[in-house]
Amino acid sequence: MAKTWQTKLIHSDAKIPQGYRSLTTPVYRGSTTVFPSAAAVRDTWDQHRVGYTYGLYGTPTALELAARICELESGAHTILTPGGQAAISLINLAFLKAGDHILIPASVYFPNRKLATTLLNRFGVAASFYEPMIGANISSLIQENTRLVWCESPGSITMEVQDLSAIVAAAHARNVRVVLDNTWAAGILLDAFAHGVDITMQAVTKYIGGHSDLLLGSVTVRDPALYERLGSAQQNLGFAVSPDDCSLALRGLQTMAVRLSAIETSALAVATWLASRPEVETVLHPAIPSCPGHEFWKRDFLGSSGVFSIVFRTGPTQQQVHAFVDALQLFKIGYSWAGVTSLAVSYDIGRIPGRPPYDHRIVRLNIGLESTSDLIADLDQALPKLRD
Ligand SMILES: Cc1ncc(COP(=O)(O)O)c(C=O)c1O
Repeated sequence: MAKTWQTKLIHSDAKIPQGYRSLTTPVYRGSTTVFPSAAAVRDTWDQHRVGYTYGLYGTPTALELAARICELESGAHTILTPGGQAAISLINLAFLKAGDHILIPASVYFPNRKLATTLLNRFGVAASFYEPMIGANISSLIQENTRLVWCESPGSITMEVQDLSAIVAAAHARNVRVVLDNTWAAGILLDAFAHGVDITMQAVTKYIGGHSDLLLGSVTVRDPALYERLGSAQQNLGFAVSPDDCSLALRGLQTMAVRLSAIETSALAVATWLASRPEVETVLHPAIPSCPGHEFWKRDFLGSSGVFSIVFRTGPTQQQVHAFVDALQLFKIGYSWAGVTSLAVSYDIGRIPGRPPYDHRIVRLNIGLESTSDLIADLDQALPKLRD
């Protein structure tokens, strides 16, 4: 059929050579997915079962990333979300209804707690916060209507490593599912399914992304029934991911082993140096014995990543702790760790119920890829600010 130039702008007959092969996954962008016939039109989220139907459920770029994460975590199905917090909300919204109860460690990532106490609470879901080192005693908190036990190990900021196996055994004995936020371990330094976890999630934003330039999350399961619940919830919620972000995450995966290894070595050296300083009361790094649950880290983890906290001895005021953080030159101040840049954030942890009495004396560090000796020199020149 003859075409005007305007139509050719949309429906072109231009030819290019076929057969190009690259080492990278192309960025397939697309909302509309073209069907071969009128009868083939479907609106079903499971692209593995029915083929591609709509960009919301993933283009090949997103499905490639999901499949790679699934493979690394030894799962059966992975669903991507627009960020780690969206992975947390997808899990809660997929599995909970009014009248249900969930258990969350007091050491949880704060927006996870806030979701439970605000939005979930408004929809009739009750949450109790438990002491993260509770282990098998979680049994005593499980109610008739408890549907999920959340774990996050190590916990955010205060870094408690949980006795995952004991919590899983106690929860399963009462037919309650266990969810793990496995972000600190990048989904690989702790094998969630080998420890009996039912649903594992991570902020892909962190170590997989690895360069502080994208937001993504993942939820991985083995049980097909859980996958069905998650997939239909994702469809209803419309949690779409950007193929461009997925492409960056696929690139991040290729260097994650060397980044993690360099970061592990550097973080341990910085943490060990800090432990020797008179200003520091304790170092909360899972691979250092002073960290609560260090024995569970030794038992369960394959290594450590680059986020840990320090607690100063009593004495410095909050302003002095802020002055220390402000005096750092290489460590930048900001959320979202696991990139190549070292970060420092101080907290007033006493404001969060159930946290240890560290008050304003706790600073969380993210170790990036700067040289370890420069990072130590930076901390060394800033520590006197605690006394100024
Ligand atoms: C342990 C943990 N889980 C989840 C998230 C949320 O991830 P995102 O920032 O991608 O929403 C974060 C972010 O800091 C986190 O530290």
